[in-house]
Amino acid sequence: MPSLYDRAEIYDLLENERRYEIAKRNWEVLLAGKNVRTLLDVSIGSGSVTLPLLDLGVRLSGSDLSEAMLERCRRKAAERGCEIDLRVSDFRELEQNFSGRFDCVASTGNSLPYVENDQVLGVLEQMDALVSPGGWLCFDLRNWDKILRTRQRFYTYPPFFRDDIRINLVQAWDYCPDGSMDFNLLYTFERDNRIVQREEFREHYHPISQKLLLDKLSVMGYQKVELYQNPAQAGAFTEDTDWYCVIAQKPG
Ligand SMILES: C[S@@+](CC[C@H](N)C(=O)[O-])C[C@H]1O[C@@H](n2cnc3c(N)ncnc32)[C@H](O)[C@@H]1O
Repeated sequence: MPSLYDRAEIYDLLENERRYEIAKRNWEVLLAGKNVRTLLDVSIGSGSVTLPLLDLGVRLSGSDLSEAMLERCRRKAAERGCEIDLRVSDFRELEQNFSGRFDCVASTGNSLPYVENDQVLGVLEQMDALVSPGGWLCFDLRNWDKILRTRQRFYTYPPFFRDDIRINLVQAWDYCPDGSMDFNLLYTFERDNRIVQREEFREHYHPISQKLLLDKLSVMGYQKVELYQNPAQAGAFTEDTDWYCVIAQKPG
């Protein structure tokens, strides 16, 4: 089964100006009063979540496992007249690929659970090593505690349109016996009420509890832990939140 991240143009079909503005407002809320001038996103993908930071005057850097996603990110930044330092890197090996320090190091887009729980804790250590003293570590995730509680199976998106094509996206979530999960993504493209193209992808995740992540931040000495719904303008996290965001400060 192909990875969606080899087909960055399909991944980005969901993007539009409205989602861009929501992402921008999200950062305005998250970074308010934090004096963040440089930010590294270690799972930047095509940049849909972090490119709006360029409008806020933040110097953005990024890394990702997928060259195809980075290439698309590079092109989108260039269309905005910006050049970004983008590097292919597994987020488990950040220290091999970056030596500088950033005011904020983030992992966006529910990317951490691509690796097993113990490895996620290692990724947080790798991210921490790149955060300046007094800087911030930030990540957003699906609420895996809720997913495991409710065992939801289907996740649908409202149909969206490109020219005369209607695009439908449905996710079917499989719960694997070993506790991991497969997200099966089915895109159908319709013209004149007929399916003219379909694309199928499978993403493999390792659900991770919020407590494990917050405990790790605490062990690493992080303070001022803020917990929001994602996007942050939706308010504080509750256990019913579908997707959440954490930002916390490293000791100075
Ligand atoms: C759902 S996308 C999120 C992309 C972007 N942050 C966004 O929100 O649009 C997940 C991203 O994580 C990346 N990824 C998966 N495993 C990774 C790893 N071990 N190291 C770095 N990036 C990884 C994928 O290549 C993909 O671009």
